Amino acid sequence: MNPACSETTDHGEHVQAMCREALGEPLWRFIDQCRAADRPESQLIAILHRVQAQYGHLSPTHLDAVAQLLGVPAAKVAGVASFYHFFRLAPRGKYVINVCMGTACYVKGAAMIAQRLMSELGITWGETSSDGMFTMEQARCLGTCGLAPVVMIGDEVLGQVTPDQVPAILEKYLKRSRATTEA
Ligand code: FES
Repeated sequence: MNPACSETTDHGEHVQAMCREALGEPLWRFIDQCRAADRPESQLIAILHRVQAQYGHLSPTHLDAVAQLLGVPAAKVAGVASFYHFFRLAPRGKYVINVCMGTACYVKGAAMIAQRLMSELGITWGETSSDGMFTMEQARCLGTCGLAPVVMIGDEVLGQVTPDQVPAILEKYLKRSRATTEA
């Protein structure tokens, strides 16, 4: 057990309880098992994947709890989480917008669509709009090149998108969100 999390002192028990609360019982148990491995640090990426699968992103609280339980410096855990692009350190928006920047879409103006989205939403790649509605990401080919340029919002594929259509597209999703909230 991690000294910080297993001491029988009040402080140790308090830390242990905070770690358990931050991650939930199943993850807490999983990390405890990982600690028993020869090199617990080698389990770090697998643990972070599990945390992200459960919570959608890795918050500072999650990262601190993982560091405490695994007995690894917090700076190392934070460094690994921020190094790999597949880890998300902030929650995603309600709708994830994937702009295809593959060759077929790029030559048909994907960059201009991305620019329009960025200016409408006030964000760039990987960021989420301030209202928490949209996250912008880029894809390398969504497999529908015949519809280029392609934007995917949630699981919906939009083909032959033009920059001028962007405001109406965003409004459509905002309306949809309002409708589901009011329903
Ligand atoms: S390059 Fe965009 S869908 Fe293939």
